[in-house]
Amino acid sequence: MQAGSFFVQPILVLKDVVIGYDSSDPLVKVPDLQVFPGEIIAIAGPSGIGKSTLLRTIAGLVSPISGTLEVCGKTLPESPPRGHLGYVPQKLGLVRHASVRHNVDQGARAGTRLRKERNERSTGAIEQMGLTDKSREPIRRLSGGQQRRVATARTLAQRPRLILADEFLSELDEETLSSVLEAVTNYVRENDACLIVVEHDITRAKMMADKLLVIDDGRVNPFIKGTKALEVNI
Ligand SMILES: Nc1ncnc2c1ncn2[C@@H]1O[C@H](COP(=O)(O)OP(=O)(O)O)[C@@H](O)[C@H]1O
Ligand SMILES: [Mg+2]
Repeated sequence: MQAGSFFVQPILVLKDVVIGYDSSDPLVKVPDLQVFPGEIIAIAGPSGIGKSTLLRTIAGLVSPISGTLEVCGKTLPESPPRGHLGYVPQKLGLVRHASVRHNVDQGARAGTRLRKERNERSTGAIEQMGLTDKSREPIRRLSGGQQRRVATARTLAQRPRLILADEFLSELDEETLSSVLEAVTNYVRENDACLIVVEHDITRAKMMADKLLVIDDGRVNPFIKGTKALEVNI
């Protein structure tokens, strides 16, 4: 990709990456995927096919079975620079007894060491997610949708270059959904960041993403028996 006279580096590169938990039973093969600054990519596919595993592999939490994976300029097994990668897991991983503020502060802390900057980021992200009046509430007292907004605020406060979000729009009502989506989309566009979002609802996935990757059980990669190829559909 060219932008003016500058060569724009991709934020994420996957080359012949095979993922799964057991090399004799691989889940998905990604032949070639490059994600550039400002892009939103949705991953869709049936339950249990390996969508979360793909995100966890990109997040460095699961090792790929084979292939080359480059995140924010660092090739695995090297880690991306501190704070560059923000991950919103399907199970949110919030500290349930702690407050909204505490949880969002954790994100800000992952992104910056400066105290004043941390405070500003947390306050801003909490406000963006419409949680200011819930700031002191412990997580366990919040609804599923509110908890998802806290996890999103935590990631926005970190200000990562690459956001990996697993079904992060589930449990949100329509109104909350559009405000969360707008906040995250604006963040990505304004900061030349990337968003890779797992979304089982294809209509919703198409609505939000520049590219949709469908992991389809019917598509068997000829190189690895039983492996589903990742296809760029739009
Ligand atoms: N930690 C794990 N160890 C072994 N197998 C796992 C693990 N986590 C998930 N799996 C299996 O990997 C497959 C893909 O799971 P997952 O990536 O969660 O699918 P999806 O997100 O598409 O629903 C499923 O068969 C699941 O049971
Ligand atoms: Mg999943």
